[in-house]
Amino acid sequence: ARCNGIRHAYSCHVPPRLLVSMRAASEVFDAQVAVVLGTQWGDEGKGKLVDILAQQYDIVARAQGGANAGHTIYDEEGNKYALHLVPSGILNPKTICVVGNGVVMHLPTFFNEIEGLKARGIKVDGRLFISDRAHLLFDLHKEIDGLREAELSGSGKQIGTTKRGIGPAYSSKATRNGIRVSDLKDMTTFATKLTNLSLDGSKRFGSDYHYDVEGEIAKYTDIAPTVRPLVTDTVEYINDAYESGKRILIEGANATMLDLDFGTYPYVTSSNPSVGGIATGLGLAPNKYQALIGVAKAYTTRVGAGPYPTEIFGKLAEDLREIGREYGTTTGRPRRIGWLDIVALKYVCRINGLTHINLTKLDVLSDLEEIKVGLRYRAKDGNVLTSVPADLETLEGVTVEYETLPGWKSDISKARKWEELPKAARDYVQRVEELVGIHCKWIGVGPGRDAIVTKP
Ligand code: GTP
Repeated sequence: ARCNGIRHAYSCHVPPRLLVSMRAASEVFDAQVAVVLGTQWGDEGKGKLVDILAQQYDIVARAQGGANAGHTIYDEEGNKYALHLVPSGILNPKTICVVGNGVVMHLPTFFNEIEGLKARGIKVDGRLFISDRAHLLFDLHKEIDGLREAELSGSGKQIGTTKRGIGPAYSSKATRNGIRVSDLKDMTTFATKLTNLSLDGSKRFGSDYHYDVEGEIAKYTDIAPTVRPLVTDTVEYINDAYESGKRILIEGANATMLDLDFGTYPYVTSSNPSVGGIATGLGLAPNKYQALIGVAKAYTTRVGAGPYPTEIFGKLAEDLREIGREYGTTTGRPRRIGWLDIVALKYVCRINGLTHINLTKLDVLSDLEEIKVGLRYRAKDGNVLTSVPADLETLEGVTVEYETLPGWKSDISKARKWEELPKAARDYVQRVEELVGIHCKWIGVGPGRDAIVTKP
């Protein structure tokens, strides 16, 4: 059944326990194609919004990134699901999930996730497709990732990658010796290609490079028959689905401030988590996107190295890290904490043409007397910068000018309606809206699926 807004959604067999959060969060969200993007440095809470909206969509698709993204979702019973490669829509029984060509696939991780979901009673068969054009990420890419980081650590210039091999896998793709999902159809050619690919690593890193190419070929020979039924021409699939009126939700991974082109290069990820990467990573043209939803935390966090103008240090950062549980889903690393950065957010809104914002984790700020938002960057020469500069030295040297807003000093985690939020919390959201010029349609007040407020 095609779900078109809440009335139709009721008639498309949504389990009753999910209806509560649908009512709370996403009544009549009528974009046929909606894209959810991270607006900061990742971990904004995209997974939760995707999971909520997925209840109204026929298809949920991923377009870029790899197992470095980690969506964490809690259902009404408080069960936690951590997904890295499988699209978040998998938790909704009626949704078809598509992994697009722009994703780099580590198949063992993908199948572990699938097994974990099956063990918890989630039906996966027939609901999950992988693009035949997606590139494979091998353990050799992880090995190279670790070796590169180790090399850079000598100069103190580590990127702080998740060591999941994402950068090296995209490098193989760009240097045109990568191996794609479609290559699993013939394991003899696959073995030759993998052996050649592995030579890159041994030539570059010599005896430091350890990779069991024969073992990997054997592993993929075992996996290949399980993968083949999932392999699809997803460009054709997604466009046919669109043309037949299906509703498609596209789930961004990572975030624009980590974008290979627009982020704080080189402290970025190796894909384009901005809207351009969605188009190239799925093959559905941008003029089909009716809603572009940016997910932004009410403050900011960043994992890994790189400039971070609104960073907070000391006790306040520690407190927010504990309250917000700001530790990486993939690596467990403590995240750096900062105030909301309006300069960066405006830059990201422009790049992506955002139509809506989901402001998440407002509840984490509830104990604060006052809350700051970074309004302007002033460069060392005293001039105000009009946007985020490309040059890292300039960015690292800026002084941020803040606006201070009063806190609300009360628990907002039970609020489900806009009017139930204290005035100071509403004022904070409205001030953010005013500064970036985009409607904050959803406000996150807790980790649970139902802990969300829709702003009229
Ligand atoms: P990446 O794709 O890795 O960037 O992650 P993500 O943006 O999908 O973030 P994720 O969904 O993993 O969310 C990060 C954490 O925030 C999870 O533990 C969520 O449960 C939690 N979370 C999401 N929204 C809220 C909120 O409004 N309040 C609180 N307290 N936690 C939230």
